[in-house]
Amino acid sequence: MCGIIGYIGSKDVVPILVESLKKLEYRGYDSAGIAVVDENQVHLKRVKGKISDLEKSLKSSTPNGSFGVGHTRWATHGRPSEENAHPHRDCTDSLVVVHNGIIENYLSLKKKLTDEGHTFRTETDTEVIAHLVEKYFRGSLEKAVQQAIQELEGAYAIAVISLQDSGKIVAAKIGPPAVVGLGDGEYFVSSDLNPLLSYTQKIVFLEDEEIAVLDSQGVNFLNFQGKPIKKNADHITWSPLMVEKSGFKHFMLKEIFEQPQVVRDTLKGRISLDSGKVFLEEIGITPQALEKVKKVVIVACGTSYHAGLVAKYFIETLARIPVEIEFASEYRYRDFILDKNALVVVISQSGETADSLAALRAAKRQKPLSLAVCNVVKSSIARESDGVLYTHAGPEIGVAATKTFSAQMAALALLALYLAQIKGKIQEQASLPLIEDLQRIPHKMEKILNQAASIEELALEFVSFSHFLYLGRGINFPVALEGALKLKEISYIHAEGYPGGEMKHGPIALIDEKMPTMTVIPKDNVYEKMLSNISEIKSRVGYILAVAFEEDEEILERVDRVIPIPSANPLFTPFLTTLPLQLFAYYIAAKRGADVDQPRNLAKSVTVE
Ligand code: G6P
Repeated sequence: MCGIIGYIGSKDVVPILVESLKKLEYRGYDSAGIAVVDENQVHLKRVKGKISDLEKSLKSSTPNGSFGVGHTRWATHGRPSEENAHPHRDCTDSLVVVHNGIIENYLSLKKKLTDEGHTFRTETDTEVIAHLVEKYFRGSLEKAVQQAIQELEGAYAIAVISLQDSGKIVAAKIGPPAVVGLGDGEYFVSSDLNPLLSYTQKIVFLEDEEIAVLDSQGVNFLNFQGKPIKKNADHITWSPLMVEKSGFKHFMLKEIFEQPQVVRDTLKGRISLDSGKVFLEEIGITPQALEKVKKVVIVACGTSYHAGLVAKYFIETLARIPVEIEFASEYRYRDFILDKNALVVVISQSGETADSLAALRAAKRQKPLSLAVCNVVKSSIARESDGVLYTHAGPEIGVAATKTFSAQMAALALLALYLAQIKGKIQEQASLPLIEDLQRIPHKMEKILNQAASIEELALEFVSFSHFLYLGRGINFPVALEGALKLKEISYIHAEGYPGGEMKHGPIALIDEKMPTMTVIPKDNVYEKMLSNISEIKSRVGYILAVAFEEDEEILERVDRVIPIPSANPLFTPFLTTLPLQLFAYYIAAKRGADVDQPRNLAKSVTVE
């Protein structure tokens, strides 16, 4: 959480920092600030609130400078306030730092530095970095940073500037991401790629324990011991247009509508409609190694965890390999058992979620195979796993995940088929009908999106409800969880996802006319069971909505409202049942005036524990 940016080049620095922060705002948005340097002063501007508030405050006085750093904050230590907003200063006001992460030993460092005469002005952990660099500064900023970070414990990506060694930005990282952009006579450091795409596609990914020193001539890289290191740039093909709203009111709505294409892109080039073969050799783990896999363990957080729950059905049904699925934040602290015949799959859109990364590292100690399913290319989880299966969703800006969920399910369906073929559970030719079913999914998704107006009309009837129950069974139980998560995170309506069969063991007590139930009920092997659950609710005067196949006439008589979806192979229904639930949550939240793209208290990339 938190986003950092640094720019050095010949352009006007303030607009570049502000535009970049807007693209990083999904990482945190309770306060923001910039610092720019001119010949003899560091100009600081900080506000409590969003980047739009920073922009407003810059209108009254815009500082000049030739380089600078910026920050958007998700508070961990110290409440959101102007004083606690980054950049943070040393005692002399000539050195500032922006930071993403947590300094775990900040209290002891603060005490030591205070005893040594440093004066602290904030409640943050970050401020110790500024004073430590000040302490070690003897004329070279990179040397001072290098010495200061030896004393830090925790996780950080930082960028530091100083008037005493001007014309430079020094960045360093352990844990949270930092990328360096190599433009034409201009150089950037940023928490992610998005802000840089308008200026350059030449990106260097900083690894842990590396330092980047940016000046107007270029960028030098050092390790934490101060030794120069050589790093190669990657050419990134994401385009700046991908991070624009393109006429949609919110990024979330745009991203919901991108889903058919995202599924197509994720399947593209990985399946043969002639032979039925799935091609995933690109993941970097050999088929021989995968053939030995006896157990799959999936770890993930949030929406990625729900994609993992769906994947359990894909893999167990198709490849007949037992699958365990765990929250990364729980798994990492468990005394789990793995061996070299286990495949650990870490699903993470950002590839940077702290708990997922820590779970991967903990798992790797027992030497299983590890596979990342990530959207962000070269992210930490992608780099640290034995193999990586990329979802081709493009950048997702809305904090609530939508298109990356569909892309993850597409990638995981392919993985299941690939494992099934390698293990001989399904012959290639026998896979063909399944592959054809999968291939037809994007078109069916389009049909659902074409009904967005009627879903909006329906959603608007529920704007003032305070509680919702979501029920599903089998492979659509995770969809119920995801639907409830979408509603609660963007509209702040309390919503619970539950497996239909468990409802009678508790949640049924909540049912009354004020708590509607959204049921997910395609025609599959648990359809009749879901109908029974629906009857149980109806007998208790509950109001019921249903996402059901369009030709299902029976359901019309059993529930109050139906959102029809095209019929499909039951195994692939989550691709379809998810869309109405995303739209339903979106329209309710938008009508309630909620900040759909940046819901309160949340952040897209959770790089703290
Ligand atoms: C945050 C985001 C969610 C996301 C989760 C896991 O909570 O708000 O949208 O599902 O992190 O993120 P990851 O990048 O690991 O998929």
